[in-house]
Amino acid sequence: MRTQVAIIGGGPSGLLLSQLLHRRGIDSIVLERKTKAYVLSRIRAGVLEQGLVRLMEEAGCASRMQAEGFTHDGTLISYGEELFRIDFKELTGTPVMVYGQTEVTRDLYAAREAAGGQIEYEVDDVTIHGAETDAPYLTYTIHGEARRIDCDFIAGCDGFHGVSRRSIPDTIRTEYEKVYPFGWLGILSETPPVSDELIYANSERGFALCSMRNDQLSRYYIQCKLSDRPEAWSDEAFWDELKRRIPADQAAQLVTGPSIEKSIAPLRSFVTEPMRWGRLFLCGDAAHIVPPTGAKGLNTAASDVHYLYHGLVQYYADGSSDGIDAYSQKALARIWKAERFSWWFSSLMHRYPDQTEFDHKMQMADLAFLQSNRAAQQAMAENYVGLPY
Ligand code: APR
Ligand code: PHB
Repeated sequence: MRTQVAIIGGGPSGLLLSQLLHRRGIDSIVLERKTKAYVLSRIRAGVLEQGLVRLMEEAGCASRMQAEGFTHDGTLISYGEELFRIDFKELTGTPVMVYGQTEVTRDLYAAREAAGGQIEYEVDDVTIHGAETDAPYLTYTIHGEARRIDCDFIAGCDGFHGVSRRSIPDTIRTEYEKVYPFGWLGILSETPPVSDELIYANSERGFALCSMRNDQLSRYYIQCKLSDRPEAWSDEAFWDELKRRIPADQAAQLVTGPSIEKSIAPLRSFVTEPMRWGRLFLCGDAAHIVPPTGAKGLNTAASDVHYLYHGLVQYYADGSSDGIDAYSQKALARIWKAERFSWWFSSLMHRYPDQTEFDHKMQMADLAFLQSNRAAQQAMAENYVGLPY
């Protein structure tokens, strides 16, 4: 088989890139290790920056998001007895869109299928060949049968555990990592959200987050130990702990119910440089991970896709490789800023096992400054709604 762009990974990065390229007449094949049902069973953050909303529009995939998503003009932050709001709309002129990442992925699959896009599911042993030549190709197996795809470019959209990043020789690749000493225990429940806007809470007992998918589906998280097991947390224990970490008024109003999903996610900051090796380009989680505080995971993937997509369109339109040559440097410049924000917001909101009283005072002073200082709020809001591409 031959295609212009071979895409490894059928998560949101790979699907969005494939759909955007298709709209500009560039063909691609997506190789996905799992089934579509498996990909759609993964639950991840649901806050979309305007940049991603615009890309979904450009991809022709925005109608359900526009109809069912919720525009949020601000967010709430609590600490101790204090509760304050950051007004994104007033501070930056821009809101965010609350719409589940699973739904984004579902809409992208639907668009690829409607356009007759080629997606190979349940592929194994994807191997990258000739990334440094003008004739790269992939080999893989599907249900035991060996196959090969020749292509002009390879997009490595295969997430943190994928093969693409690891294909770049160690001598070329540098990795930067920070692992946080706690996790997030998250539940999904068919209950109305406790608040119209998200609440990020720094409490004595640790971080909590009240989020949502729609007016009958809530998503809540509490900071937990890395050694905790989700099965060991009963729903009742989860709700009790959440109530103790959020402001009393909200705790009193919280509607609880059975969880329909419960899982623990570790927190990590990770970046690999460069994001390009010859004709291989890394996108999304394949190249970087952020802790979920601030919901930048999917949004950083989207800015990568934006830069790569425009670089490829330029290459096929006039033969210029300027865009793809600038890809790694442009993508990384934005990624590091999102990494900084996610790290700062995580550091501000969590209790660390080795935190000293001094560290705690610094957190409280940082929060009090954010509560009272417009410039600090503006910096927070600009980062939260998303820095420009
Ligand atoms: N061959 C083929 N597919 C693979 C391989 C492989 N060797 N390894 C991984 N994959 C697939 C995974 O099964 C997954 O469906 O690549 C896909 C990568 O998807 P994601 O992990 O969702 O990564 P990405 O598309 O970059 O999305 C970024 O997802 O993890 C969240 O927080 C993150 O919101 C961010 C978004
Ligand atoms: C979510 O809804 O899952 C969510 C929202 C905001 C975050 C992280 C996760 O910062």
